[in-house]
Amino acid sequence: AEITLEDLNTTKTPVIENQFKTYEINKPPKHKILCKMDATKRVVLITGSATGIGAGTAKGFAKEGASLCITGLPSQKDELAEVAKVCKENGSPHVLEVAADLRKQEDMDLLMNETIKTFGQLDVLVNNAGIQVYGDIEQQYTSEEFDNVFSVNVKAPIYLTKLAKPHLSKTKGNIVNLCSVVRNWYLPKFIVYGMSKAAIEYLTKTTAADFAEIGVRCNAACPGMVLETDILVNVLPEEVQQQFREDCSTKLRGRTTTKSEVSDLIGFLASDKATMITGELITIDGGKMLSLTA
Ligand SMILES: NC(=O)c1ccc[n+]([C@@H]2O[C@H](COP(=O)([O-])OP(=O)(O)OC[C@H]3O[C@@H](n4cnc5c(N)ncnc54)[C@H](O)[C@@H]3O)[C@@H](O)[C@H]2O)c1
Repeated sequence: AEITLEDLNTTKTPVIENQFKTYEINKPPKHKILCKMDATKRVVLITGSATGIGAGTAKGFAKEGASLCITGLPSQKDELAEVAKVCKENGSPHVLEVAADLRKQEDMDLLMNETIKTFGQLDVLVNNAGIQVYGDIEQQYTSEEFDNVFSVNVKAPIYLTKLAKPHLSKTKGNIVNLCSVVRNWYLPKFIVYGMSKAAIEYLTKTTAADFAEIGVRCNAACPGMVLETDILVNVLPEEVQQQFREDCSTKLRGRTTTKSEVSDLIGFLASDKATMITGELITIDGGKMLSLTA
């Protein structure tokens, strides 16, 4: 007979011992091991969704009929409105726009409260907002810059993860973080940004482990160079961008990654197609990192 999701969620499990949990024979796991999300009824909150990968991700979820909370800095209200318009045209039944500076805890509280007040639930959190500084310690490092990068790239994702936990627990939802190939790869003058993405690797793995028992997954997308969004283009000198393009052109897929390819990966990780994927950091760089170790 066909095995249903119901069967899988109540199937007797053998003893599995690991550092996290011991499941007993004949005792079903407390949490659902699978969840079936109706893509058209999902509520998805995406930070940094006024531009770049975040905006593309919102438009992708909209095509599946998901309701969305999109958010950007107060200075990005016009861009947010434009993204909201496209999302509605793409099929999203409801798009909530919230202006929030993720360096401020009260703005993040507002963001989550507005999402729950409007939709009553949260199914997916995409921690996408990020900033970059470029320079070595002597030239560029300042305490203020460090604080800025860590506030947006690290403190915001961990705080939003904390706020999202009770809501994702109810929906058996999931989190997708934006990490980067520089989390464990040396690139000159990426010191602070690289450190922040290394922290996201740890956050992703520890969230996946800690939230497993409440049935919530957490993964990360790790793009290589996406030289069509603001984050690198605004801070990297033109000759460095050119160098990256030439470098990527000689590596496996022979080009840089596009923002829509990253959005597709985020959509996949958040979907039921990835039900058994958690704690993973998926590199999306056309094989460039592979070519460095081959
Ligand atoms: N572009 C790349 O090559 C690349 C590579 C690896 C990882 N990433 C990651 O992808 C994510 C998205 O970046 P992108 O390439 O789309 O660039 P982007 O600059 O278009 O997007 C980043 C967004 O974050 C928002 N943001 C910054 N500070 C904020 C704050 N204080 N409050 C609220 N929002 C804030 C920005 O306004 C912007 O809309 C980032 O986390 C980035 O680190 C990008």
